[in-house]
Amino acid sequence: MSFDPRPIGVFDSGIGGLTVLRELLKNFPDENFIYLGDTARLPYGSKSADTVRKYTEQNMNFLKGRDVKAIVVACNTASTQVFETEYEGLPVYNVIDPGSELAARMTENNRVAVIATRATVKSESYTKKIHAHKPEVEVFSAACPLFVPLAEEGWHDDPITNLIAFRYLQGLKAQDVDTVVLACTHYPLLKTAIQKVFGNHVNLVDSGEAIAKLLAQDFSSQRLNKNNKSGDKLLICLTDAGTQFEKLALALVGDFTDQRIVFETVSVI
Ligand code: DGL
Repeated sequence: MSFDPRPIGVFDSGIGGLTVLRELLKNFPDENFIYLGDTARLPYGSKSADTVRKYTEQNMNFLKGRDVKAIVVACNTASTQVFETEYEGLPVYNVIDPGSELAARMTENNRVAVIATRATVKSESYTKKIHAHKPEVEVFSAACPLFVPLAEEGWHDDPITNLIAFRYLQGLKAQDVDTVVLACTHYPLLKTAIQKVFGNHVNLVDSGEAIAKLLAQDFSSQRLNKNNKSGDKLLICLTDAGTQFEKLALALVGDFTDQRIVFETVSVI
C-alpha cells in the first residue's frame, strides 16, 4: 500500500466546518488537515447561488495550491453549489450527499426536518437528495439564519439561543418529525438548544459524522491513500483574523488533536 502524507483540505465560511474537522480528527488521527475559514465573507447563507459558487471555487483553488490530496466542503451552503465529485483531479466531498442518505436511512415515520441557511433551503438540495434515496419521505424545511452568528459568538447553550431556537423550530416540531438534519455545519454547536425544542426522542443528523463514514469507505477502496503518521502542526487559515475565532477553534478541536494549532491569515482571491 502506498501512503500519501499530503493534508486533506477542509473549508467553511467560518467556525461551523470545525464541527466537521473535529469528526475527521477523531476518526483519522494519522491524517494531516488544513482548514480554511472564509471569515472575511461570512455568512454564505444569505448570498446568491452564483456568489457562493464563486467563493467555493476560490476556496478550492486555494486548498489545491496548498497541495491537498482531497477537499471536504464542510459547508452545506457551499455544498449546494458543488456538483462534481472531483475538482481539478482532486476528490471532493460535499456534506449534503452523506447527510441526506443518513436522514433517509434513519427516519422511521418518514417525516424529516431540514434546518439550514436560507440559501440551502432555497436550493432544495436536501429534499431532492432525500427523495432520491426514499421518495416517500415528507421533508419539511426551515431557515434559521440567526443560528450562525450565535454559533460564531459562542452562545451555544444560552437562554437567548434557547428562545430563538424555540421561535424558529416550533412549527417543525408540530409536524411530528422523527429526524432533524442539522443542514448547516454551524448548527451542531447549538445541538443542546435544538434538541431541547424537539425532545430527546428525535434524531439529529450531523454532517460531520456522516462525511467521516464516507471518507472511511474511500480510504478502504483506496480512492484516497492514507497517511501513516500525522505531522506536528494543524494549520487553520482565515481570510480575516479574529481572536474570537481562535479562542473558539482551540476549544472546539483542541481536545481532538495532539498537533500544535497554528493560525494564518490568507487571501483566496
Ligand atoms: N456553515 C455554513 C453551512 O453549513 C453556513 C454558514 C453561513 O451562512 O456562512 O451552510
